[in-house]
Amino acid sequence: MHHCRICDSETQNIFSFGRMPIANGFLEGPSDPEYFYPLSLVLCPRCCMVQLRSVPAPKLMFGRSYAFISSTSAAMQAHFKTQAEDILKLVKGKKDPFVVELGCNDGIMLKHLAGKGIRHLGIEPAANVARQAQKNGVTVLKSFFDPQTAAKIVRRYGKSDVICASNTLLSVENLNAALEGVKLLLNDNGVFFFEDPYLLDIVSLGSFDQIYDEHIYYFSGHSVANLARRHNFELVNMEHQDVHGGSMRYLLEWQPAPRNRAVSHWLAKEKRKHLSSRTGFRGFTKAIRTTAVSLKRTLKNLKKRRLQVVGYGATSKSTTLLNYSGIGPEHVEYITDNSPTKIGKFTPGMHIPVKDRKAFLADNPPYTLLFAWNHKREIFAKESRYRKQGGKFMTYFPKLKLHGLKGRGILNINNTKPTTMRAEIRRSGNHRTLKVAIHPRPKRPRFSAKAELKSSKRSL
Ligand code: TMP
Ligand code: ZN
Repeated sequence: MHHCRICDSETQNIFSFGRMPIANGFLEGPSDPEYFYPLSLVLCPRCCMVQLRSVPAPKLMFGRSYAFISSTSAAMQAHFKTQAEDILKLVKGKKDPFVVELGCNDGIMLKHLAGKGIRHLGIEPAANVARQAQKNGVTVLKSFFDPQTAAKIVRRYGKSDVICASNTLLSVENLNAALEGVKLLLNDNGVFFFEDPYLLDIVSLGSFDQIYDEHIYYFSGHSVANLARRHNFELVNMEHQDVHGGSMRYLLEWQPAPRNRAVSHWLAKEKRKHLSSRTGFRGFTKAIRTTAVSLKRTLKNLKKRRLQVVGYGATSKSTTLLNYSGIGPEHVEYITDNSPTKIGKFTPGMHIPVKDRKAFLADNPPYTLLFAWNHKREIFAKESRYRKQGGKFMTYFPKLKLHGLKGRGILNINNTKPTTMRAEIRRSGNHRTLKVAIHPRPKRPRFSAKAELKSSKRSL
């Protein structure tokens, strides 16, 4: 029996993934010892909070150095610059405002406020990223956030006008204590907002790789509204964000406070999808199995035809996908990643080597599984040369999909070079929708990954 971390009611099982390693537990060597735990997703039928049934001890998850560094992505840089601008709007007209961020990471957002001379404080328990934030000119308190820390901050700096947290609260197991801390720290007219991956997006897309040890909570408007009320707050606004595969920003103010129309809009949407009961997850759990089976089958078929497949982005997310689907180095030769903390290591559980981008560019593999699918736009732009040369990215949510370059010919699987030599280009509308006819049309290719994807689907 398992009880909800928020309201103590008995929870209901949604899906069990079996034994999983620590998502960010990259190994120095493939035979290093590893810790495994049972990964299960549950729903509280009373307060609607979707959460993990059990989580490993924090010291097993967040070791000496936290592998996730926010600033590795240009899109995230842009996102947090906008967030800082939104905060400036919230504090406009306030005298000497004070902004506190819970989990400031490397200061990706607060550096903008620091640059504008706004009084701020970042709370960050991970030493390596906290140091980086300090280098970025951010004032940091190296600590976890709870009522004791909140009281300490109030004594030292006074109460705050804005408290925010991005991709942080989903990892805070004692969320009630964190909310009590916010209650102590927030002033009478203050605003508390947080952003995390949105349950409705995860379920709609079938992106089950978002489920791993560090993500204890999967928030929805319903669960956040209930959580807020427990702590005398009102959920006053919801703003959808196009990051991390779909996130939601929840704004909370002291009760009573009027709700923005966006809240009723999103609550109605969640209701239509039955996200507060197990019924709403039937399609999702089916999609988990289907994706895992068809992806592995496709990779096995590519392997049979001796076609090299590598991965792009050694994400924490990929740990769930790879381990649940049983995909290892025999299917994905290596994963390329730009984080110095991951290069040269091996992925948790399945032990796929992580290599730098140089190795990927030198190899020019015909197929690349995009594990960092939430950074698709940025990565496609960065790897446009690879794509022009005929390299294909593969994504798997909501369905397996190959991304070839329109107007750049098709992939000749025998030599992996595109057959664009005698392309006849027909213009249809603007240049973005150029259509290319290849002459001569290749005879039936010995293998077409597109057909392969179709046949995998058919045989499911
Ligand atoms: P995230 O999905 O948790 O943000 O992790 C993204 C991972 O992908 C991270 O390990 C860094 C890696 N990555 C690259 O290797 N190249 C890139 O261009 C981007 C955007 C991310
Ligand atoms: Zn509950």
